[in-house]
Amino acid sequence: PQPLIIDTDPGKDDAVAILLALSAPEIFDIRMMSAAAGNVGLHHTSANIRRLCDVAGRPDIAVHAGCPRPILRALQTVPDIHGEDGLAGADLPPPVMPMAERHAVPALIDAISASDRPVSVACIAPVTNMALACVMAPEIAENTAEIVIMGGTFGRGNITPYASFNIYNDPHAASILFGGEAPVTMMGLEVTRRTMPTPEWCARLAATGRPAARVVAGLWRDPTAFMNDACVVAYLMRPDLFKTEWRHVEIEINDETEMGRTRLIGTGEANVKVATDIDVPGFFELLFRQLGR
Ligand code: BDR
Ligand code: CA
Repeated sequence: PQPLIIDTDPGKDDAVAILLALSAPEIFDIRMMSAAAGNVGLHHTSANIRRLCDVAGRPDIAVHAGCPRPILRALQTVPDIHGEDGLAGADLPPPVMPMAERHAVPALIDAISASDRPVSVACIAPVTNMALACVMAPEIAENTAEIVIMGGTFGRGNITPYASFNIYNDPHAASILFGGEAPVTMMGLEVTRRTMPTPEWCARLAATGRPAARVVAGLWRDPTAFMNDACVVAYLMRPDLFKTEWRHVEIEINDETEMGRTRLIGTGEANVKVATDIDVPGFFELLFRQLGR
């Protein structure tokens, strides 16, 4: 199986991504997960990752708490979308499994350096933790297969008219990764906005009665949100469900109005692989099969 690390801020769509990854031990060897500040504060996201590992029967996975805030800017949380604790509707008890003791940044560095094979990193939150790991230990780029970041848009943003939530919340960190040595794939809103499940799909999923399926159906009881982050894990499992193109993308870190905007630059060497298309029925089939199994 492919070594995988998930850096995450659950978050409803993070929950889908995490449960999807945990459902496929034959595909992913999950080396650790790290909690980011994002949708809600770090104390909630670090508890939520463990609540999800508990329900999936994987309390053995090391969960490390990362940075409680972005590098330069103030964190803007969105409890109105995900609920005060980040997982409204999931109906999960408090975590039983413990937190790992170390901070996520050194833990990321060690997990990547110590791996026998290059590690894929799913960054489905503001990317503060992974950016700082790359600043502290640039050599980890050599053992990083791919950093897949949920974020960015070339059209309308979802937190400001210009920016997507994850990039807006730490544009400096994102800009470190986009200009860095490790290969980056951008899973932006153009693709993830196509992942709104239908009420029928949710009902079918709930009817499987499986624990992970019940959690996801609970989170989507009133289906008004996209499953953005699940696209990152789906891409790592089934790249054939996506189309990608190498492009040159820059991140706005100066202008306050357009802060965190991702711009396609026609000239200049390609620096990121951009996901441009998704097989939507294929995506929902994969989710159904994995969560309902
Ligand atoms: C992204 O921002 C967060 O709200 C979601 O969890 C996802 O990572 C969507 O823009
Ligand atoms: Ca997220």
